Amino acid sequence: MAEIGTDIQKSKALLEQGELVAIPTETVYGLAGNALDSAAVAKIFSAKKRPSFDPIIVHIAAPEHAENYAENIPQQARKLAECFWPGPLTLLLNRKNIIPDLVTAGLSRVGIRCPDHPLTLELLTQLKFPLAAPSANPFGFVSPTKPEHVNDQLGNQVAYILNGGTCKVGIESTIVGFENDEAVIYRLGGISVERIESAIGKVKVQLHSTSNPKTPGQLKSHYAPGKKVMLGDIPSLKAQFANVKVGILAFSSDYHTEHQITLSKTGSLEEAAQNLFAALRAMDKMPVDLILAEPVPDIGLGKAINDRLRRAAAEH
Ligand code: TXA
Ligand code: MG
Repeated sequence: MAEIGTDIQKSKALLEQGELVAIPTETVYGLAGNALDSAAVAKIFSAKKRPSFDPIIVHIAAPEHAENYAENIPQQARKLAECFWPGPLTLLLNRKNIIPDLVTAGLSRVGIRCPDHPLTLELLTQLKFPLAAPSANPFGFVSPTKPEHVNDQLGNQVAYILNGGTCKVGIESTIVGFENDEAVIYRLGGISVERIESAIGKVKVQLHSTSNPKTPGQLKSHYAPGKKVMLGDIPSLKAQFANVKVGILAFSSDYHTEHQITLSKTGSLEEAAQNLFAALRAMDKMPVDLILAEPVPDIGLGKAINDRLRRAAAEH
């Protein structure tokens, strides 16, 4: 098990020695290492059992640092950074050579994000290098939103877990890239499509490409918990699986079942996003054989929540 604490100096010292530290962000916990040190980045891949074709996001202390790692930054990217950084937005930008091949899996673009969490921003400000950090979970599993989630699964792989409490957004960053200077959303996340469009106008959303995905977060069965998840109308599913021990993952309703978790009693999509991954983990530990989940309203953060629910429900 790893040590969990709030010691920024200790985190800094470990990262400077090429070790891995789990860091809190507003979206999910990250498994961080020195982004400019290939040996440290290699440790991230092996700790997560992550295939080497899956590139890693680089976290920076301040928006203006993007210039150090990327070039030919499109005007729309600048606008998005201005509107949403620090925050749950990752921009895919043409990389500079200072970024090791391992970080980008050999691709010409690097994913850059300025996260919005006071402890991690303080840590990044004190470091002389940016942090490569994927979500701190084994590859293909649900992302961690609390320090204990990291400890449960990667406690033996990480030198220290910087405790920043429960992640306030709860789902991963929105990933935006540019094709012929046209913005494309590759992963739905903490900044809604509506908010992106209010900043730069209409954008293309391109999520599913099952073979050879541009970003593996697009793999269909990503974000899966251990148990089988069925997504649909709860009363119909309950009737269909009347003889199975089911757990219910509800948006706001009460279905009067012994094993139910409600994402937001008040029907808030923000609250539902914050609770989603912890709820999937908790359901996995309940004495049930099947998880029944219902889609949430498909607006704002609801689109990203539904995306994660669909992937959790996909065959794996
Ligand atoms: O909110 C987040 O983005 C969290 C926190 C820790 O920052 N990070 C995160 O990282 O979710 P990860 O590795 O679990 O998911 C990042 C996704 C992956 O699907 C990866 O393929 C894609 O971003 N990605 C990263 N760099 C990329 C690049 N250069 N080109 C294309 N896709 C990239
Ligand atoms: Mg991940």
